[in-house]
Amino acid sequence: MTTDLPYLNLREMEVAAASVLSPAALAYYVGGANDEVTLRANREGYAALRLRPRMLVDVTAIDLRTTVLGLPLDFPVGIAPCALHGLVHPDAEVATARAAASVGSVMTLSTMSHRPLEDVAQAAPERLWFQLYLYHDREVSRALIQRAQASGARALVLTVDAPYLGRREAILRTPVHIAPGTVLPNVGPRTPGSEGVDDLSYFNTLLDKGLSWADLAWLRAQTTLPIVLKGLLTAEDAALAVEHGCHVWVSNHGGRQLDTAVTALEALPEIVDAVAGRAEIYLDGGVTRGTDVLKSLALGAKAVFIARPALYGLALGGEAGVRHTLELLRGELRLAMALCGKVQISDLGPDLIFPH
Ligand SMILES: Cc1cc2nc3c(=O)[nH]c(=O)nc-3n(C[C@H](O)[C@H](O)[C@H](O)COP(=O)(O)O)c2cc1C
Repeated sequence: MTTDLPYLNLREMEVAAASVLSPAALAYYVGGANDEVTLRANREGYAALRLRPRMLVDVTAIDLRTTVLGLPLDFPVGIAPCALHGLVHPDAEVATARAAASVGSVMTLSTMSHRPLEDVAQAAPERLWFQLYLYHDREVSRALIQRAQASGARALVLTVDAPYLGRREAILRTPVHIAPGTVLPNVGPRTPGSEGVDDLSYFNTLLDKGLSWADLAWLRAQTTLPIVLKGLLTAEDAALAVEHGCHVWVSNHGGRQLDTAVTALEALPEIVDAVAGRAEIYLDGGVTRGTDVLKSLALGAKAVFIARPALYGLALGGEAGVRHTLELLRGELRLAMALCGKVQISDLGPDLIFPH
């Protein structure tokens, strides 16, 4: 462990973060949609899945290394895109990116960041993916894509599960306000007449609600970067993603969009079948333990991503806090692998899961 933070696990960090965040920031980060059925299911699904460990395997050396889209990772955990890191720490996305890079992970920067993507890219050279929401105004989106590519981002992650924001009632009750005068650097120039509207509300008006599979050809023509579709939950959509030359990020947006939607873990097997090795598959939602990472990989994910746990780390200790979060997961994954008799990532398969 290279940080001095006292927390033994990600749950402890969540509890500790709740006492340092403002009520509005807490509501913004913690909340899910409606009754939060999917939010809870994300975690419960991992707890409900049992492992089938193998014994008498030499586990002296455990190798957690893998790759995502050709990028070597020291262990198979990355940072999911999460808006507004500046609500919890002044160093915002730059600190998160530095932490991710320092442990050989990867940072996915949200379009809705406090810091410009160029600054974040510098903080995580070669280890940045950029998450995109497509705007009505394709010229603004095109400029963002060009900035991402010029900054050295390694992939574009198009979020497809949020044409409208889910009904997050905790946020409706305690709305988050970004400081007056704050300019979100990736939101693009204001349209005339939008003066007086804060950046968050303005952003919501920019999203293209008519986005469909037909628009992927436009996106493909704008960039040579790999494209990952984030927010897929069915075999049908995963198959379409592959047909459109995209990779697949299985996610229900941390339970913040469609409540009672299937969890990524539940959706994973049918998606793995549909993709049939033709694209990479990632997953997020509810990952808080090394065994959660292990189970996701056993069922076919190439890597998993975390959003809230990284933000809690950021709130508690800036860059060191995010690093602590990632290192806890790395250590837990290493131990879980050893106790399952697995020594490298390629050893992980569905035989690890009970019933088999
Ligand atoms: C506060 C917050 C903001 C988020 N902002 C974005 C975003 O800007 N873009 C996006 O694609 N997903 C966003 N997400 C969804 C995450 O990328 C991710 O899918 C989900 O939160 C993963 O679950 P976890 O928080 O349980 O790790 C956000 C999630 C949270 C909690």
